[in-house]
Amino acid sequence: MSEVESKRVLLPKNAKPSHYDLEFSPDLFPAEGSEPTFEGSATIYVKLVEATNTIVLNAKELKVTSGSICSSEDFCVRAEISLDEKNETVTLTAPEALSPGDYKIDTTFNGVLNEKMMGFYRSEYKDPLDSSKKKLMAVTQFEPTDARMAFPCFDEPNIKATFSVTMNAPESYTCLSNMPIIKEEAAEGKKKVVFDKTPIMSTYLLAFVVAELDFIKGETKDGVEFRVYTEKGRSELGQFALDCGVKVLPFFATFFEIAYPLPKMDMIAIPDFAAGAMENWGLVTYRETALLLDPSQSSAQAKARVAGVVAHELAHQWFGNLVTMDWWTHLWLNEGFATWAADLAVDTLFPEWKVWVQFVCTTLSSALHLDALRSSHAIEVEINDATEVNEIFDAISYLKGASVIRMLANYLSVDVFKQGLITYLKEFSYSNAATEDLWQHLETASGKPIKELMSNWTKQVGYPVLEVSDLGNGEVQVSQSRFLSNGTEDASKPTWMVPIGVLNAGSSESYYELLDGSSGQLSGVNTNSSEWTKLNAYQSGIFRIKYSDSMASKLITAIGKSELGPEDRLSLLSDSFALARAGRLPTVKALEITKAFSQETEYTCILSICAALTELSRLFAQEVDSEEYRGFKRLAEQLLVPLSKSVGWEAKPGESHIQSLLRSQVLGSLIEFEHEGTMSEAVARFKSFVSGEAELLPDLRLPCYFAAVEVLGKEGYDAVMQIYKETDLNEEMVRCMRALGAIPDVGVLEETLQWALAEVKAQDIYVVINSVAKNRRGKDLAWEFLQKEWENFVERFGKGSHFNTRMMGSCTEFSSEEKAVEVEKFFASATIVGATRTLEQCLESIRMRASWYQRDAEEVHAWISKV
Ligand code: BES
Ligand code: ZN
Repeated sequence: MSEVESKRVLLPKNAKPSHYDLEFSPDLFPAEGSEPTFEGSATIYVKLVEATNTIVLNAKELKVTSGSICSSEDFCVRAEISLDEKNETVTLTAPEALSPGDYKIDTTFNGVLNEKMMGFYRSEYKDPLDSSKKKLMAVTQFEPTDARMAFPCFDEPNIKATFSVTMNAPESYTCLSNMPIIKEEAAEGKKKVVFDKTPIMSTYLLAFVVAELDFIKGETKDGVEFRVYTEKGRSELGQFALDCGVKVLPFFATFFEIAYPLPKMDMIAIPDFAAGAMENWGLVTYRETALLLDPSQSSAQAKARVAGVVAHELAHQWFGNLVTMDWWTHLWLNEGFATWAADLAVDTLFPEWKVWVQFVCTTLSSALHLDALRSSHAIEVEINDATEVNEIFDAISYLKGASVIRMLANYLSVDVFKQGLITYLKEFSYSNAATEDLWQHLETASGKPIKELMSNWTKQVGYPVLEVSDLGNGEVQVSQSRFLSNGTEDASKPTWMVPIGVLNAGSSESYYELLDGSSGQLSGVNTNSSEWTKLNAYQSGIFRIKYSDSMASKLITAIGKSELGPEDRLSLLSDSFALARAGRLPTVKALEITKAFSQETEYTCILSICAALTELSRLFAQEVDSEEYRGFKRLAEQLLVPLSKSVGWEAKPGESHIQSLLRSQVLGSLIEFEHEGTMSEAVARFKSFVSGEAELLPDLRLPCYFAAVEVLGKEGYDAVMQIYKETDLNEEMVRCMRALGAIPDVGVLEETLQWALAEVKAQDIYVVINSVAKNRRGKDLAWEFLQKEWENFVERFGKGSHFNTRMMGSCTEFSSEEKAVEVEKFFASATIVGATRTLEQCLESIRMRASWYQRDAEEVHAWISKV
């Protein structure tokens, strides 16, 4: 064990479980005024590897009422039970030392079906027969470390075992778990449901649900029974997810050359859900917006999300469930991989969506953004105890992780990469693996030194910027240094092994050169001619490039002539703005580049331009009634108005998914920049929608709701609120919540925050707070509100809950040193468990923007006033 590892708070290694028999009885009809609870028993078969009189298990917020340890019929001892709240453990102490060998631990326990969306919890929803009444369902969310809230267990990912679950439930309720039911018997108005034994797996993947449900079903081509469950009466909303699921599951089975090992797959929408979805083996749980679609009301974006989330969770059935990370340090193997693999599957199902191009302006772009902070972290990060785990479900594990995989897969070719994955999955099936194990298999498959190539990408924080200058005669000089968005240098001078894709004008094939060390030369490059050369072809690599002026100007000309593909156009744009942020390029030069996009029609490029304009106008034009703001507005109009004419307000028959996305982006941005013509059309359409005269395209609802709230003020706000109250579709509610925060009236904004607290589902409160924080007039209000409610939120959602980090989203919008100090001061005395790194990142971002403003505001103001 290395020195670093020894800080981990782990269970003692003296006992190793092989099987759990679990039985639960949730009470979904609590007496008026009392909380619903559950009772349970666990029999755990363990092997003691050394003589001991204590066995330590994990338990949290659980009352363990009895414990005994038996080795055979005639040896049973009652154990003394002691709970350690801080370490989330329960220790069973036998009266005398137990010799090594096989034992059976019996425990009984009870707990509350909590409202924190963790462990074994309750979710509330409207009774479909009487909407004034509430109904309860009991569901689980165990990842990362909350199986211990449902039963005492060895709750670490590499302590795998098999599980047999029995559920006692009301007769009319549906019981689900990872495995199919093998026995069901009625007992006094209730029923006892016995599930088949699971394969050997980690505790965090166990799941069970007791609820009144409907379902639709299908079957994969390999004969796996596939169902989608919802609340009663809503099962048809799961049709698209089911259609995707039955195709994606066999897609992965074929790709990995390993059959899906369970006989069934259930996916279920849960009304209250902390994350987006959870990959429990054979019983994947989802937030409603990640599973349900109403074809008449759901946007193209919502559809893309459902396909993407389903594919992500199904990828985990192999990467995560069959082969699990050895410890949370290697979480990225689960999440980064599933994020990459989801796009792989969606690209196969819907090639016309061009998800790999979108990858560049969403996944990769966000990864580069966060990872340019000093307070970022390496993909492989030391995790010492449970409170630190939640925070690494972040852009680094997911997005940089996926970007690392894409970089490597493209470098090796997906085919070679796949061969390595297959042997890796086969070797570690039903077991655990670490990052190096994957590298080992890829090394064998490719014959290349993968460990050496990749370890600086996963063990080292950050990524490089390559400075490129032409030496003439077909050669360029390249040097690398860590890219930090606050423009500072990393004194430790890290370097990366960088696979650089080179693309020359006139050639559709790129080739790779490897930069090893702080600098080097590339050959075969267009330097003397008027032709361009683009490095980081298809934006495959995790790095930015600062070109010499002559190389840059040739590339910018190529943007206008559409000689470069969308990924490469995108990367020139996003690198320029990133360099500007860091003070390595004047911001006006980056702004100048947007003009090369005047003929742009590609959705992804438009999305990136809009994002850049939003970011810049928020920083450099903070007052709406300022000359600067009008400048940004003119710039946005110049780029988007011509396009808005061609996309129009109605869907053309049979138009593509991307065209729908483009329409909502273009019109949405014009509304954001308050373009009069677009605003008035949006308001008119909103009015006829509300009055029932006309339909409103789902893709245009959010922009139109925004326009209505901004232009009509309270009248528009009330109408959107009405839509919120009348809809049953969470997607529609989210749209409304996002628009309500746009109201200019500060008094109403304040009421909106109070309303969120009182009326909005706990899972969505952050949506409202963040929408108010996005409003220039609401920033301060949202921050005050957050401070006032912070401790209540910590209490309500639980320490270490990832809602803590989500809520912090509302103070990252600031851009002055005073605000940075204010945020710092507040959190210095607040309870922050599992959000300390997020806080640092938030502070660093505020300060980065403050110095960006100081540095470039004058020049930007001069430039933008001439637009
Ligand atoms: N394993 C996660 C769920 C999770 C997230 C558990 C955080 C515990 C803490 C799941 O596979 C996941 O990644 N869900 C994503 C959606 C996905 C499509 C990116 C989520 O919840 O946002
Ligand atoms: Zn995941």
